Amino acid sequence: MSNLFCSSIGKKLLMGLSGLFLMMFLLMHLAINALLLVPDSGETFNAAAHFMATNPMIKIMEPVLAVGFLVHIIWGFMLTIQNRKARGNDRYASGNKTLSVSWASQNMLILGITILAFLVLHMAHFWVKMKITGDDLLSHTTITIGGVATEVENAYALVNYTFSYLWIVVVYVIAGVFLALHLSHGFWSAFQTIGFSNTIWRQRLTAAGNVYAWFVGIGFALIALLQYIFYQG
Ligand code: HEM
Repeated sequence: MSNLFCSSIGKKLLMGLSGLFLMMFLLMHLAINALLLVPDSGETFNAAAHFMATNPMIKIMEPVLAVGFLVHIIWGFMLTIQNRKARGNDRYASGNKTLSVSWASQNMLILGITILAFLVLHMAHFWVKMKITGDDLLSHTTITIGGVATEVENAYALVNYTFSYLWIVVVYVIAGVFLALHLSHGFWSAFQTIGFSNTIWRQRLTAAGNVYAWFVGIGFALIALLQYIFYQG
């Protein structure tokens, strides 16, 4: 088994499977973040954040998500190093060289490293404050959940304040574009690895991957931008 995941195809399989898992997480994360745009001073977003923070299933998924990220990052580095050693500068010597190898597919590592840098900043802004250090902005607010007045953390206030800084919003917009580029190649690449590799599926998956990738990338960027423009004060 350990040999499988150390072999070239095994590493690619792990990259693909962890990538698909992370893509599902991103869709869910985007759906919850879209609630930041409900014009009710954050009640709906705070209710969703409260659900995410207290639901036992989500608590179980948190370490799984962390492992998913770690596997994807570590194996991504290993695979790139291995490919470069094997192929030198001619990274796409086998198969689809010039026509269909997009810019994104040749720059997955640098795109991935940039997204990782964004994630470090993102965790410092939100996850660290919500899970470890706490923050005055998070102090409790009362919202109505199912007709019952409930005290919850004011996650909305923290996000809203963070997006009052233009430089942070610019970082999110750039990260959204990089994420879209990374996902546009990652989507079909993951499916190709698990077996959808014929010509018809390749075209379909490239199209579906582009739709998914730009929907997610632009979605995150737009939420930050709209928060900055319309939701301050
Ligand atoms: C508008 C853009 C975004 C907003 C407002 C946002 C908001 C948040 C918030 C509030 C948390 C803390 C949740 C908690 O600890 O309970 C969080 C966690 C997280 N975010 Fe984002 N996020 C955005 C974009 C992204 C993007 C683009 C990525 C990935 C590339 C990402 C990946 C993560 C991850 C991995 C976590 C940790 C999940 C956990 O274990 O709680 N986020 N985000």
